[in-house]
Amino acid sequence: MARIVAGVGPSHVPAIGAALDLGKTEEPYWKRVFSGFEKSQAWMRECKPDVAIVVYNDHASAFSVEMIPTFALGCAAEFPPADEGWGPRPVPVAKGHPALASHIAQSCILDEFDLTICNKMEIDHGMTVPMNLLFGKIEKDGQWPCPVIPLAVNVVMYPPPTGHRCFMLGRAIKKAVESYPEDLRVVIFGTGGLSHQISGPRAGLINSEWDKHFLDNLSGNPQKLVKIPHIDYMREAGAEGIEMVMWLIMRGALDDKVDEVYRFYTVPASNTAVGHIILENKARKTAAKPKAKPKAAIKHKRAAARAKVDRVRA
Ligand code: DHB
Ligand code: FE
Repeated sequence: MARIVAGVGPSHVPAIGAALDLGKTEEPYWKRVFSGFEKSQAWMRECKPDVAIVVYNDHASAFSVEMIPTFALGCAAEFPPADEGWGPRPVPVAKGHPALASHIAQSCILDEFDLTICNKMEIDHGMTVPMNLLFGKIEKDGQWPCPVIPLAVNVVMYPPPTGHRCFMLGRAIKKAVESYPEDLRVVIFGTGGLSHQISGPRAGLINSEWDKHFLDNLSGNPQKLVKIPHIDYMREAGAEGIEMVMWLIMRGALDDKVDEVYRFYTVPASNTAVGHIILENKARKTAAKPKAKPKAAIKHKRAAARAKVDRVRA
């Protein structure tokens, strides 16, 4: 059986990708950001997932304002990096996992989550930056360490899905993965956020108190987060802060009880608060066989039972 072993939540700021591509990671401004992901990359190397499901948002690269699916699942064999105006990022083409992706589509759709099936899709910074943050820099002709399944969520055109809907989709994905017969270790990414607004009079808004509250509740009290209405994200976390609902898909796909094994938070990167968390499902024990009782103890028990019967008879 396949199993989701952990969830990771990284932000996706495009300037992080540019800093990596242009060799600026040692500059103090960027070192502050990248140093927060060194432990995570070591964690990921040790975790060695067979597949990563990456919940992210497309920024009018694969889709446009003409057509925006609410939830779009990448079932293709590969996902090339999109040209976002400066040419495609110099990262490898991501290999997909069409068999597991199609299984997730079938399970979720029959569970009444009507995903859009994408058999051809390019991925933008919303996905490639989080992959770099967790997998490290990989040359264009190299290979990402595992196949990926993109799940694009509409958070760019009103109305995005509610936090509760996102959480419940996570639940359906968990069920889908656990009904896949092959033994696969799966990690799920929830990406985007944290608080930020990139245009209008409030451009540059960051709300660290809000971000901390969100991260604090993600592991132990996600039910509190799923009730937050869109308007609160917009007012408190900025127009683009709504990207945070995607983290709730990741959380919904994990067990009720998780261990927060790592957290990192820094401001700013470009206009954005960078948040990062790693949540592990507790190791599941396979049901152990009851230990065979030593023969002497059984004999002793039988003798005691006989003595009891004798006492009753007497
Ligand atoms: C920025 C952040 C985003 O989430 C995005 O999609 C584009 C730009 C920024 O902080 O500059
Ligand atoms: Fe964004």
